[in-house]
Amino acid sequence: PPRVTTRRLQKMRDDGKRISMLTAYDFPTAEVLDEAGIDILLVGDSLGMVVQGRETTLSVTMDQILYHAEMVARAAKRSMVLVDLPFPEGQLEISRSVQSSARVLQETTAHAVKLEGGAEQAKRIAAIVTAGVPVMAHVGLRPQNIHVDGGYRVQRDLETLLADAKAAEDAGAFAVLVECVPSEIGQAITDAVSVPTIGIGAGPHTTGQVLVTHDMIGFNSGYLPKFVRQWGDVRQAIHSAATQYAHSIEDASFPGEDESF
Ligand code: KIV
Ligand code: NA
Repeated sequence: PPRVTTRRLQKMRDDGKRISMLTAYDFPTAEVLDEAGIDILLVGDSLGMVVQGRETTLSVTMDQILYHAEMVARAAKRSMVLVDLPFPEGQLEISRSVQSSARVLQETTAHAVKLEGGAEQAKRIAAIVTAGVPVMAHVGLRPQNIHVDGGYRVQRDLETLLADAKAAEDAGAFAVLVECVPSEIGQAITDAVSVPTIGIGAGPHTTGQVLVTHDMIGFNSGYLPKFVRQWGDVRQAIHSAATQYAHSIEDASFPGEDESF
């Protein structure tokens, strides 16, 4: 099947089709998600929480994101591979953001970057796009801003959110991710821009949806946000396999004759 491109995503939006997006951090997971027909694989800085076991996304470095992006992009045959600009690559000088975005295309075979922020990031988005790197903007709840915001919470300022999404579109973003807003605001943003919107905790009206893969497959410990639905229980599957393995060693039933030289 042909690769999912920015152009293809725009056509899906114009044709009223929905876009699916999930996070991926490693080769085998990316391979399965690609085969399952997920349109966009996000190498998210959620890496910090999901894979590194940290409290926030702030610890993730550019070199770490590139390490994971390279594997994911090599595994994905059809999906677009989108890579987060980790903190503070999208906060320092614009030239640094352009350089870091260029590294994504140069050092991996990924296709685009995602950057937190809207109106205040318009010049930065335009500079990265001008350099030849497609940008998805990320508005609403911005996890890299957690210490300024004082926590993760639902974003309800309609005027600001609309202005952010429109500024991102005007700056050349190929899509706008919207995180943690009421459904009516998810709809209002989607109606206000002509590029695709991808929601997470943004209700059913956005062009597409994204979730953290570990959350939706049940490979996760602890707190699950309200917006997550779980379609699998991978943690239980691994626990069960590992327990059986341990028992088979204890009772000397593994390895058997067939499994020995
Ligand atoms: O890093 C990430 O996984 C994300 C999604 C939650 C949108 O940015
Ligand atoms: Na992210």
